Amino acid sequence: MTEEHWWQQTTIYQVYPRSFQDSDGDGIGDLRGVIDRLDYLVDLGVGALWLSPIFASPQRDFGYDVTDYTGVAPEYGDDATVRELIGAAHARGLKVIFDLVLNHTSDEHPWFVESRAGRDNSKADWYLWHDGRRGPLTWLTGRRRPPNNWRATLDLTTAWQWCDERGQYFLASFLPFQPDLNWRNPHVKEAMFDAARYWLAAGVDGFRLDVFGWIMKDPEFRSNPFRPRFGGGDIVRLWRRDFTENTPDNVALAKELRAVCREFEGPGRGAGGGTGPERLLVGEVFGAPDEVHAYLGDDDGLTLTFAFDFLAYKYSARYFRELIASYEEHFAAPMLAAYVLENHDRSRTVDRVGGDERKARLLATMLLTLRGVPTIYQGQEIGMRNTYLPLKSALDPLGRTFLPWMPEWISKRLAERINRDEVRTPMQWDGSVNAQFAAPEATPWLPLNADAGERNVAAQARDSESMLTLYRALLHLRRESPALHAGSLTLLDTTADLNARNLIVYERRDDRREGASGDAVLVALNLGDADATFRTASATGGGLLVGTAAGVTVADGVVTLPAHAAAVVSLG
Ligand code: GLC
Repeated sequence: MTEEHWWQQTTIYQVYPRSFQDSDGDGIGDLRGVIDRLDYLVDLGVGALWLSPIFASPQRDFGYDVTDYTGVAPEYGDDATVRELIGAAHARGLKVIFDLVLNHTSDEHPWFVESRAGRDNSKADWYLWHDGRRGPLTWLTGRRRPPNNWRATLDLTTAWQWCDERGQYFLASFLPFQPDLNWRNPHVKEAMFDAARYWLAAGVDGFRLDVFGWIMKDPEFRSNPFRPRFGGGDIVRLWRRDFTENTPDNVALAKELRAVCREFEGPGRGAGGGTGPERLLVGEVFGAPDEVHAYLGDDDGLTLTFAFDFLAYKYSARYFRELIASYEEHFAAPMLAAYVLENHDRSRTVDRVGGDERKARLLATMLLTLRGVPTIYQGQEIGMRNTYLPLKSALDPLGRTFLPWMPEWISKRLAERINRDEVRTPMQWDGSVNAQFAAPEATPWLPLNADAGERNVAAQARDSESMLTLYRALLHLRRESPALHAGSLTLLDTTADLNARNLIVYERRDDRREGASGDAVLVALNLGDADATFRTASATGGGLLVGTAAGVTVADGVVTLPAHAAAVVSLG
């Protein structure tokens, strides 16, 4: 691995701009606020900053409904501020990753406004329009049925929306106001690639690709096969997604997007003739590792895909052990996945593990020591909790659109957040009114969590036992240790020994130079309710680099771990 592949050694920090730092008192975070907090990110030890969408938008899905891909939303800043942000980040050695929503636009985007107005304008084929099928009552009502069984997100309703103006359906795979673009139209593809080029030319280091797996749907609009499935990341799913998700054409699209990046990448990265650094493409694609690794191609597709099985999980040694083994198998070096425990769509970790901070500390240790690119969602590093907010007054359209009938006592108990406001409340910087997210007299767009007085960056920075101190220690260790940021991973077998079956133990080894013994560390995670020990094979016994609890010790080569504790040990 060479320095050229900067992304192999990086860690990504996700900023949700609306909730990170307000600089002008309107209660909405902004780009100036992000600039003001860059030093915090440097100190924390992350390598790249992923900004959730900052483009012009009616903000009905808070930026994931774009009306102008090259214009900045006025409440966040302007073109000059975003360029200043990129420059200021680069000056501090931080990479900047933008969030690109390629699958759909807002229904207020001028393209859609034109497209829906009639069947013969210049944008008529820019979205996925369909006449629909005749139904038994069509002769009476004139109303046709949706063309197939494709479902909108959460699988609860059809993805087809009727449009009176055109007398046709349009496809909206996510929310009804987010019409899917017709990527089989070459003009659409060029317009979207040009938006990507605009930001690549501005110096952006890559993109997080929103719902990337859904872009190229079956050109024949075939219905998906029926096959019910419960659990996992979904509440219930009745159909397979053979014709809507991860299609071969979609995998091929990853290569085209890579080629666009190559136009801007420096010598040795293809025929693009660019001069800049290599660009990162991380896809929001769902699926098992043996399926999604196809997106990486032969270093000519996406750079990374998110490993969402780490986001909706069963907290058990067996679950994670098998998951790690599966990623090691299907994402063999030099391939990597982006590991993720939290984002702006899903529950906070501490809530997911039933409020047990020990477990959250263990998972943080795993996240930051696996062979992959760790992604941290703002506030995760201080163990922020979900802020319970009732569905009926949610600003987030997800639950309100698909589950308006759901009683609160149920929605409250679901592991998956269907009111995503709960994980998007403002960042908690200190214990003052508005926690320094916004001026004390401002009204934040979402309320702060009631615990901001105690749980905040300032308090945790002073506390050597805090979550923040743990994240910082792990992030800095990862940067310093070649074994952790560039080494191989070997899972050790702990399943044979009854006392060790709740342990996950792996070694990370910098074995890039053959014959030379490089840096090596051992990671031991105890997911059981009882103390556990593990004997290392190291002659020197090793020293404790990071322990998540006071009782973690290493003596004479034996690592002792209290329940739900983790250790990172040097193997000399
Ligand atoms: C992705 C985003 C989510 C958004 C959706 C539609 O899943 O993470 O926040 O609502 O795509 O763009």
